[in-house]
Amino acid sequence: MTKPILPGEVAAAVIDPTAYAAWEPLQEQLVWARANAPLAVAENPTHDPFWLVTRHADIMAISRDPQRFANGIRPTVLTDRDGEALARAATPGGDGHLIRSLVQMDAPDHMKYRLLTQGWFMPKNLRIVEDRIREIARETVDHMLSLGDTCDFARDVAAHYPLRVIMDILGVPAEDEPRMLMLTQQLFGSTDPELNRGREAVRSAEQVIAMLHYVIADFENYFRELTADRRASPRADIATVIANATIDGGQIPDRELAGYYMIVATAGHDTTSASTAGAMMELAKDPALFARFRDAASDKAGLIEEAIRWSTPVQHFMRSAKEDVEIGGQTIREGDWLMLNYVSANRDEAVFADPFTFDPDREKNQQIAFGFGAHVCLGQHLARMEMQILMEELLPRLKSVELAGEPARVESVFVGGLKRLPLRFEAA
Ligand code: HEM
Repeated sequence: MTKPILPGEVAAAVIDPTAYAAWEPLQEQLVWARANAPLAVAENPTHDPFWLVTRHADIMAISRDPQRFANGIRPTVLTDRDGEALARAATPGGDGHLIRSLVQMDAPDHMKYRLLTQGWFMPKNLRIVEDRIREIARETVDHMLSLGDTCDFARDVAAHYPLRVIMDILGVPAEDEPRMLMLTQQLFGSTDPELNRGREAVRSAEQVIAMLHYVIADFENYFRELTADRRASPRADIATVIANATIDGGQIPDRELAGYYMIVATAGHDTTSASTAGAMMELAKDPALFARFRDAASDKAGLIEEAIRWSTPVQHFMRSAKEDVEIGGQTIREGDWLMLNYVSANRDEAVFADPFTFDPDREKNQQIAFGFGAHVCLGQHLARMEMQILMEELLPRLKSVELAGEPARVESVFVGGLKRLPLRFEAA
C-alpha cells in the first residue's frame, strides 16, 4: 500500500515555528489533516519524512505502545536532517540525543529511572509542598500588584511562578533562578528570535547545535556542583533524591544524572507558565468568566483542565517505529518517524464538542496535553496544583482584568504558548 502524502502547505506548517506563533492558520491546516489525512507523511526538503499524527485516538494508541513506538531511536523533538546528523556526530555512540533524560529512554532503563522520583510527584506527596507553593503564589501576586495597573502577565508573572516552584522543589536557590530561566528558554524556545542567546533568528542546524551545546554545558556545570553538595549534605529536595539514587547497584552515570536534573528543571516551568498565561488570557477576555472564577467558592478544576487543553504547551513529541505496525488504517514501517501533534489532538472534533470554544464546563475533559502512557508527564499533578493555587490566590485580589494589547506566542514547534500577554487590572 502506498503511503498518503500531505499537501505541501500542511507539511510546511507543522515544521514552521512561526506557524505555531501565528496559531489560527495552523489550526486550519490541522482541521484539514484530521478530516482528510489524519495519518499521513509530511515531506519537506529540510527534514526526513515523518508521519503527522493528528487524531486523538491515534496519538493515544501510539503512546500506549512504547514497545513498538520508541523514544530512544530518533530525536524525540522534531529536528532537521542536518541537525540530526550533527547531533549524531556529537553524541556518545552516535545516538543523536544531546541530552539523555527520561524522555529519550525506553524500557528497561526508562522505568528504572522514572521510579526514582515518581513517588515525589504523586498527589499524596505533593501535599507536603502545598504550603510552600501557596507562599510562592502569594509573593507572585504581591509582585504583580506592585507593578501598578498594567503588566505583561506572561513575562512579569507567569514566567516566574512555576520556575520558583520547581526550583524550590528541586533545591536550586532563588538567586540562580534567572540563569535557569534563560537556559530553559534557550533550550525550548531556541528558534524564537526574541528568546535565543544572540537575540537574532537562529535557523541553521549548525547554529542550533552550537547553541544547544553551550546551554547544555552550562546546565551540566551547574548541576555537577549541586550533586557534590547533596551527596555531602543531603536535604529534603529532589536534587538529594537524584544525587544519591542508585541504578543497578551503582551511582547514576554522569550523562544520565545531568539529563535527570535538566528534564525536571526545564519541563516544569515554561510549560506551566504557558498554561497559566493561557488561563489568564481567557479570563481577561470574558468578564463573566472572570467574575465566576473570582468567587472563592468556585470550583476551578474545570478552568484549569480546559486552560491546559486550550494552550497545549507541549506542541508535539516524536516517536520511532521499532517494527511494522498497522494503525489508523495505515502501515507504519520499522524505522518510520512520527510526530504526535498534541495541538491537533486537543482540538479533535471526534473527542471535543465545539473544540474551538473555551469551555471550563466540559463534562469529561479528555485533553492530552500531558501525553499518555509510559511517558505521561511526570509533573502533571504538580502543574495542576500550581495553577489551581495561583488562581485561588490571584483572582480574589483583582476587581477587574482586561487585555491591554496584543498577546503574542513563542515561535517554536516544541514548547509554545504566550510570550506576551499585556493586561490592565484593578486591585480589589
Ligand atoms: C513529560 C507536558 C508540566 C516534568 C511530558 C510530556 C508532555 C508533557 C506532553 C510527554 C508525554 C508523553 O510522551 O506521553 C507537560 C505540560 C505541562 C507539564 C503541558 C504543564 C502544563 C510539567 C511539570 C514537570 C514536568 C510541572 C515537573 C517536574 C515532566 C517529565 C517528563 C514530562 C520529567 C518526562 C516523563 C517521561 O518521559 O517518563 N510533559 N508537562 N512536566 N514532564 Fe511534563
